[in-house]
Amino acid sequence: MPFRKIAWESDYELGIERIDAQHLHLFEIVNKIYALTDNDKIKEEIKTILHELNDYMREHFEDEERYMEKIGFPEIEEHRLFHANIIEQLTHFVKTPNHRLDILQTKMKIIAKKLLIDHIIYDDMKIKVFVEASLIDEQDDEIIEL
Ligand SMILES: [Fe+2]
Repeated sequence: MPFRKIAWESDYELGIERIDAQHLHLFEIVNKIYALTDNDKIKEEIKTILHELNDYMREHFEDEERYMEKIGFPEIEEHRLFHANIIEQLTHFVKTPNHRLDILQTKMKIIAKKLLIDHIIYDDMKIKVFVEASLIDEQDDEIIEL
């Protein structure tokens, strides 16, 4: 039985276009693992996807950190640490992949939930809340100015 992909939910959206698009792309890379079928080159194929995931995750985190800086997100240092911790765990996973597809696909699910989905839901959502609160503050300022 083929393993099911990880599904994107609207609950994961931050409403920040660039970051949402990057998160979605991370899901797409993870899901390449579920499109694999056993063959002679499976080790190479697994390696390529996992490296793509690791590289893109780093790129995305750098981008997200630049965004947090730009908007003056107050919990940026804590968030940087979350990113560093995720990269450390992901790098370990990428360096020691299981080449038995069913095992790798199961482990990938656990990693995706822990390092990608939970980070979006619990940590990245704070950025969304901050952005929305800032917008409300701006509106209040306008009202006061009037
Ligand atoms: Fe993040």
